[in-house]
Amino acid sequence: MSTLPPNPNPQPARKKITTLTFRQKKEHGEPITVLTGYDYPTALALDQAGIDAILVGDSLGMVVLGYENTLPVTMEEMLHHCRAVSRGAKAALLIGDMPFMSYQVSIEEAIRNAGRFLQQGGMEAVKLEGGRERLETIKAILGAGIPVMGHLGLTPQSVNLLGGFRPQGRTAVSAERLLEDAQMLEEAGCFSLVLESVPTRLAGMISKRLSIPTIGIGAGSTCDGQVLVTHDLLGLFDRFTPKFVKRYADLHTSMVNSFTSYIDDVKQHSFPAQEHSIDLPDEEWKAFIRKSSG
Ligand code: KIV
Repeated sequence: MSTLPPNPNPQPARKKITTLTFRQKKEHGEPITVLTGYDYPTALALDQAGIDAILVGDSLGMVVLGYENTLPVTMEEMLHHCRAVSRGAKAALLIGDMPFMSYQVSIEEAIRNAGRFLQQGGMEAVKLEGGRERLETIKAILGAGIPVMGHLGLTPQSVNLLGGFRPQGRTAVSAERLLEDAQMLEEAGCFSLVLESVPTRLAGMISKRLSIPTIGIGAGSTCDGQVLVTHDLLGLFDRFTPKFVKRYADLHTSMVNSFTSYIDDVKQHSFPAQEHSIDLPDEEWKAFIRKSSG
C-alpha cells in the first residue's frame, strides 16, 4: 500500500450524535441526514462528511450480497457488517436494521437479537419494520434499554404481502391507517420513524403530527430528515435505481474503467513501473550474486 499525503482538509472532531440529537434537530427545524453504510471505508467517509446517522440496512442483502430482495439476510450477515461500520464511524449515530425473522417469531427472540446489535455489532439503536402489529415487540426492546427506529410505508421485508416494491398510502383508507400506525409507533416510544415510498403530502402531515422525527426515503422533502441507500447515491448498484434516488456519482463506471486500465497496464508491462518497485542496492546485489554463484 502506498503512503498517502496528509488530508489537506482535516475535519474537527464532531460531537457524538445520539437519539436525543435527533429530537433536538426536529425541535430546531434542522434536517437530519442519514445514509446506509455496510463497511469500514464507507463508514469512515460518511463520518468524515458529517452524516448524522449511519443505518446498516438490510438493503445490504441486495446491494452488497446480490440477493434478489432483503428476505435471505441473516443476523450473522448483519452483525458482520455492523462491526465493520462501528470500527469506522465515531460521531454518527449507528443504527442496525433487524433482518427478516429476527423479530417476528417471538418477543423474546426480538429482544435477544436487538441486544446482539448493541453487544456484538457495536450499534446504538435498531430499526424494525411494521406498525400496530409490532407495538408489543417495540415496547419490549425499549424495555431492555435499546432505542428503536420504526419503518412504515413500503416495508421491503413484506414485499410478498405488498405485491411488489410499490408506493404505499395512496388511498384515503391506507393513508389513514399509515397515520394511525405512525402515531402508535410514537406512543410506543420509537425515537424516529422511516417513511418509505409514501406520498409527499401524507409524509408531511405525519411529520407535523408527530413529535419524533420522520426520516423519508421516497417521501418528499417535508420529512424531518432524509435517508438513501448509499450504493444508489454513488451509482454502485446497477440492477435498478428507484425514481426517488438522486445519483451523486457513477462509481460503477469508475470501477469498470479503473479495472480495465489496470488489466491493460499489466498486459502491456506498464505496471508496475519503477516507482512501484523495491530497489536492492548495487553492492548488496553484487554480494548476493557472488554468494549464489558459489
Ligand atoms: O435497509 C435499508 O437500507 C432501509 C432504508 C432504505 C431505510 O431500510
